[in-house]
Amino acid sequence: KGKAKKLAKSSDTQINQAAVLGAGIMGGGIAYQSAYKGTPIIMKDINQGALDLGMGEAAKLLGKKVQRGHMSMDKMVGVLGKIKPTLNDADVQAADIVVEAVVENPNVKKAVLSSLEKSMPEGTVLTSNTSTIRIDELATALEKPEKFCGMHFFNPVPRMPLVEIIRGEKTSQETVNAVVDYALKLGKSPIVVNDCPGFFVNRVLFPYFAGFSKMVSEGVSFAKIDKVMENVFGWPMGPAYLLDVVGIDTAFHCTGVMADGFPERMARQEKDPVTIMANAERFGQKNGKGFYSYA
Ligand code: CAA
Ligand code: NAD
Repeated sequence: KGKAKKLAKSSDTQINQAAVLGAGIMGGGIAYQSAYKGTPIIMKDINQGALDLGMGEAAKLLGKKVQRGHMSMDKMVGVLGKIKPTLNDADVQAADIVVEAVVENPNVKKAVLSSLEKSMPEGTVLTSNTSTIRIDELATALEKPEKFCGMHFFNPVPRMPLVEIIRGEKTSQETVNAVVDYALKLGKSPIVVNDCPGFFVNRVLFPYFAGFSKMVSEGVSFAKIDKVMENVFGWPMGPAYLLDVVGIDTAFHCTGVMADGFPERMARQEKDPVTIMANAERFGQKNGKGFYSYA
């Protein structure tokens, strides 16, 4: 379970147009990366504010490249033009591949995927950027599970090379091949893994977060843990800061899925700081307050 497999060979499915559902931290990053690497992408959300934020972040990243002389203004405009923000479901129908990147809630994802499948032409590849929810569980909402698999990016998308491609029990080899090809086109390093809660990386990362939460619930300062992990252990960011980057609401949902999937190893702590903060709507960088404050 969760073991990396050898990459599949190239696919016959042509991916000329992509779509992403959700323009949040991940959806915005996926849209930027797809456009930057040359595949036009439709970015669909239910919230105009999220679309504006997604476009704003892409413009900021590209603007930095222009300022440094790494990109012309014309190229920047061209890349931005490859992202089509929309609130309209029908616009998504032009896509050859769709990455679902809405909230980490199995019922919401199933409803979104099921209605998406009904509206898309035959042959469209559907994927989910879920962090932890089993692909076989999401596939129960679909009539063509063979055209569906996980496509799990890491945050921040423009900087993190890894993409986990999760093969469900019914996913066809052609679907895996097409998603591997798209990931390579995005300049990413895909690995193909089997299905289980948390897949490969989050089976490593979430026990680490659980260890952190246990220490905090025992009274150790989160800032002290970060300081040690960053300044002396040498990781780029400590667990509290990383949770703020991921989003405390998302981490809360992921922790629940992992606790249900591996109750013997991942049971929620009493006085779990992630639960306490999620209940207090301290969602991290996305709303300006988490373990730390972001004015
Ligand atoms: N989006 C886009 N670019 C970003 C960014 C973001 N959110 N954050 C930083 N960057 C860019 C900066 O703008 C900067 O760009 P330039 O070089 O063009 O100026 C560049 O990255 C470097 O930034 P820094 O100098 O501040 O940082 P760094 O290079 O030392 O490291 C990093 C950046 C690689 C992201 C590093 O901080 C890191 O590895 N952080 C940990 C990230 C991590 O663990 N992610 C996994 C989260 S869990 C997950 O994703 C799975 C899940 O299912 C929840
Ligand atoms: P987010 O809260 O930043 O964004 C979610 C977006 O989805 C919001 O803009 C919301 O308006 C939109 N949305 C909700 N319902 C929708 C619908 N029906 N149709 C279209 N859009 C809808 O969340 P995020 O951090 O981007 O996470 C999205 C997914 O990616 C989750 O499954 C999460 O587990 C996964 N993921 C997150 C990270 C991370 O570090 N944040 C990393 C990898 C994977």
